[in-house]
Amino acid sequence: MRKTIIAGNWKMYKTIAEAIELANGLKRELFKLNSQEIDIIICPAFTALTEVAEVIVDSNIQLGAQDIHWEDEGAFTGEVSALMLKDVGCKFVIIGHSERRQYFGETNESVNKKIKAALKHNLTPIVCVGETLQERESGETFKVLDDHIHNGLKDISDTDILKIVIAYEPVWAIGTGKTATSQQAEEAQKYIRDLLRKVYNNDIADLIRIQYGGSVKPENITELMSQPDVDGALVGGASLGVEIFTEIVKRASEVVK
Ligand code: PGA
Repeated sequence: MRKTIIAGNWKMYKTIAEAIELANGLKRELFKLNSQEIDIIICPAFTALTEVAEVIVDSNIQLGAQDIHWEDEGAFTGEVSALMLKDVGCKFVIIGHSERRQYFGETNESVNKKIKAALKHNLTPIVCVGETLQERESGETFKVLDDHIHNGLKDISDTDILKIVIAYEPVWAIGTGKTATSQQAEEAQKYIRDLLRKVYNNDIADLIRIQYGGSVKPENITELMSQPDVDGALVGGASLGVEIFTEIVKRASEVVK
């Protein structure tokens, strides 16, 4: 039985005041949900992490960041390290999001280094993998997933892989309003789990949580979550409002598998 995990990726949205308001609203609406049964995570921009951490302290909502650097400290202008994320109270960090791969030169090699840095400091990496529209249309979806999983997760031990969450995010479904059908999500996520069976073993593959991401909304969360290999969601646009994200989290928590 894998614990449901819903994460909101706020991307480059929300001033500090707006972030506090959103976090307060979510805390108020979601307090009844049992943190033993569902992980609820919000990932604000770096600038709002400290204030949001204060709002959600002692609540059932956990804090995540959207990126990380692999060194603990150094002359890396503009970067933020695992130590710094821990310092502000982060428990999770998104790594290898397609927007970082697409616009900021993120590669499997940098993803791999970032995962190792996060694990070294007990941050849970949410590792994003997924194909572009062109790759899907040219029949390369599984090849891309092979590449992201084999190279992104290179040399991660049996113990460490269990501390990782994977997010399958087909790039063509991100921010486009085009959700993958639940069958497409399941097909890709089953493929990822089967890859993990080969690289690790059945027990490990059965324990690893795989989220779906890409235009998740209240209207599609139940069907997505009903798929055997969909253990949660990474939500972008629909995580920016109290009502809509609350609805997604609540509906996800109601799906019984
Ligand atoms: P979206 O973004 O929900 O706005 O499609 C998902 C993501 O980028 O993680």
